Amino acid sequence: MNYYIETYGCQMNFADSEIVASIMNDNDYKLTKDIKNADVIFVNTCSIRDNAEQRVRNRFKEFYSLKKKRPSLIVGMLGCMAERLKDQLLEEERILDLIVGPDAYKDIPLLIENVRKGVKGINVILSSNETYSEIQPVRIDSNGITAFISIMRGCQNFCSYCVVPYTRGKERSRSADTIITEAKRLFENGYREVTLLGQNVNSYNFTSDKESISFALLLSDVAAINPLLRVRFATSHPKDMSDELLHTIADHPNICRSIHLPVQSGNNRILGLMNRKYTREWYMNRIEAIHRIIPDCSVSTDIIAGFPGETETEHNDTLSLMEWARFEFAYMFKYSERPNTAAAKKYTDDIPEEIKIRRLEEIIKLQNKLSYESNIKDINKTHEVLIEGVSKRSKSHLFGRNSQNKVIIFPAGEHKPGEYVNVFVNRCTPATLIADK
Ligand code: 5AD
Ligand code: SF4
Repeated sequence: MNYYIETYGCQMNFADSEIVASIMNDNDYKLTKDIKNADVIFVNTCSIRDNAEQRVRNRFKEFYSLKKKRPSLIVGMLGCMAERLKDQLLEEERILDLIVGPDAYKDIPLLIENVRKGVKGINVILSSNETYSEIQPVRIDSNGITAFISIMRGCQNFCSYCVVPYTRGKERSRSADTIITEAKRLFENGYREVTLLGQNVNSYNFTSDKESISFALLLSDVAAINPLLRVRFATSHPKDMSDELLHTIADHPNICRSIHLPVQSGNNRILGLMNRKYTREWYMNRIEAIHRIIPDCSVSTDIIAGFPGETETEHNDTLSLMEWARFEFAYMFKYSERPNTAAAKKYTDDIPEEIKIRRLEEIIKLQNKLSYESNIKDINKTHEVLIEGVSKRSKSHLFGRNSQNKVIIFPAGEHKPGEYVNVFVNRCTPATLIADK
């Protein structure tokens, strides 16, 4: 039997699909890239914004005709949307046979058996201890060089706008041993970069009878595997970003000089309403600490435009903070009200759509300028690149990233993916550094 899997949303979701693939392969199913050959179709879904959910609903409409032609086809929804909407989906999406939340993936083979017997399969029970720690993910669409490792699950920060604590449950850390074993195995198989993933990696803490392992300790243990293994991590919460962690990064050249530190807003009143638990001043202090302790570190961020009640002055505070921080990169969004979150219950989504759009455009325009200016500063310098593959635009060029997570394109020469190479950058676009001399 063949299965096909499509993934939406964050890196965690892509890592989860690789866990699902491992569970399926262990049960004698085979992954297919061709949906026409699939006996089971999975869509691993995201609920973070309404448009993420709408995209998935449209995708299910396309599956409808497949299922009509082949009634034995099993269609399953996995992930955050399955968790959020639960049995409501059985009413709304009639073609669904399976609905499985993020902590119930081990149950999938059994649920498929039930579907074959004519019973729709649903398991959306959240767990307080499931970390899939012993599962070896099957790499899907891998470049063979870079891989994600999930180090914790869930989130209990309860930012008022965010659906994740409801869809992914309580925060729990995976055992350090299994993380290190996974990273070692990847290295032995030729991988040269791992990204340690969690909703809030700074609060990673694994306690056993023997010891208690913090994120800083885990990070240095993974970095110690081999100097040729690059280590990245995401995502950090500003409230927990400690100097200890910054010193750990500074002490290990193979921990990448790139920190993703979502700010969301530059205004203290809005940060309070968002329940972010830090102020603009605290955030600025953390950025200063990053640049003091790791001078060559790049910083990226997430920003939300048009949170309920946000005034023009408060929006301008976000712009001024961006100018001050000079972020290298940002993910930027319009506020999207998510049902049942604290923000949906307490605040009216009262910023008109056209104002949200205009504010988001201002944020994007400013960020494009900042990214471009940052790239210009990188010209006429040599960068160490880990080669990831062949450039999409030209077969005679390769691409990779420097430690700061910037994409660099350069002539292939005799080089191959997986190698480190020093590249002299002589020009740039707003998004890419280029070596062509
Ligand atoms: N509306 C808009 N953006 C959101 N994010 C999370 N929830 C929402 C929402 N309701 C953004 C935040 C977060 C990123 C993953 O998605 O910026 O950091
Ligand atoms: Fe989307 Fe958040 Fe779930 Fe990731 S954790 S899939 S971003 S809702």
